[in-house]
Amino acid sequence: MSGADMNASMGPPLRVGIAGLGRLGKRHAEQLAFGTRGASLVSACSPVPAELDWARTELGVGTLHESFDAFVRDPGLDAVVLVTPTSLHADQTIAALEAGKHVFVEKPLALGVEDCERVAAVARRHPGLVAMVGFVRRFDPSYARAQAEIAAGAIGRPFIVRSQTCDQNDPSGFFVKFAPTSGGLFMDCSVHDIDLARWMLGRPKALRVFATGSIAIHEGLRPLGDIDNGIAVVEFEEGRRAVIYASRTFAHGHETQTEIIGTGGKLLVGHGAARDRVVLSDAAGVRHQAVADFFERFGEAFALEMAAFVASCRGDRRSPVDLADAAEATRIGAAITRSLHSGQAESV
Ligand SMILES: NC(=O)c1ccc[n+]([C@@H]2O[C@H](COP(=O)([O-])OP(=O)(O)OC[C@H]3O[C@@H](n4cnc5c(N)ncnc54)[C@H](O)[C@@H]3O)[C@@H](O)[C@H]2O)c1
Repeated sequence: MSGADMNASMGPPLRVGIAGLGRLGKRHAEQLAFGTRGASLVSACSPVPAELDWARTELGVGTLHESFDAFVRDPGLDAVVLVTPTSLHADQTIAALEAGKHVFVEKPLALGVEDCERVAAVARRHPGLVAMVGFVRRFDPSYARAQAEIAAGAIGRPFIVRSQTCDQNDPSGFFVKFAPTSGGLFMDCSVHDIDLARWMLGRPKALRVFATGSIAIHEGLRPLGDIDNGIAVVEFEEGRRAVIYASRTFAHGHETQTEIIGTGGKLLVGHGAARDRVVLSDAAGVRHQAVADFFERFGEAFALEMAAFVASCRGDRRSPVDLADAAEATRIGAAITRSLHSGQAESV
């Protein structure tokens, strides 16, 4: 069955617009244009004309906006996907909800808890609209299975999570250019591990954090107060703990890995950044290839995530990632960032 046939059998497609066509926005746009059942990518927004040209020529998007205000008010849109700099997320999510659109916004929802609360207050006034935050790992089949195993009691009572998000070094300096709007290494990368830890440990309340970090390669981060390698410890209630590591400087590839330890066993997700199941053994040793970046590691999860958003907007299922979880991830990420700068443990 073609995409058009499927849409016909489901009723009219959800008319989606995307704002932000950078590193990740282009991937979400391709997914919406060619691979998401029940959706049609009809509009795109970016302040960069070359990105809009790309949307027109490569994806056939018909309506293009340099102005976010005009984009979000377009009556021809049912839903918007926001893949813009993190510092814009809260205000753009609010504008979209006020304009009557369902919203998918990339993680983190905002850099501060007050902004998350502002979004939640507006969302409460629009209960018929979906507001979903892009915690993509919840859609990764391996993480989803680990969480289901825990819920079924496979490792007893889970109490420790050790989780890392480590990017391959990018010598182009992308991470330095990206840093002023990202919220810093912990807010940008570790917010995924924070959300995972809460999900795996049963959403415990976070009490206190400690963080430290260093610059191994990218000196350009120093004037921005950012780091390229960092470690954080999160104390949750009832003795639950998370140990989080983030890096921008791995030599071999992108390595996201999480270990969940319980009273009756442990689970390990993503060991060794393996690209596939091929292991080469020769005179030099035993080795496998590594995934290059987050998109290669989580490509399938990004597709499932967008499908879940579209299904929620169409009323087929409840939004799987709620604003309260997103706000809690920001609250913990902000406390970790405070601790990095103060050198002290910080209350959450
Ligand atoms: N889920 C994940 O694993 C994951 C991975 C990477 C990035 N992200 C998130 O996605 C977001 C974007 O990250 P990126 O790496 O694609 O960044 P990027 O800098 O490559 O892209 C940002 C895009 O936003 C556009 N933009 C800037 N101002 C705008 C405005 N006012 N209105 C509309 N568009 C505007 C830029 O032109 C660019 O296309 C960030 O919030 C980041 O945290 C999530």
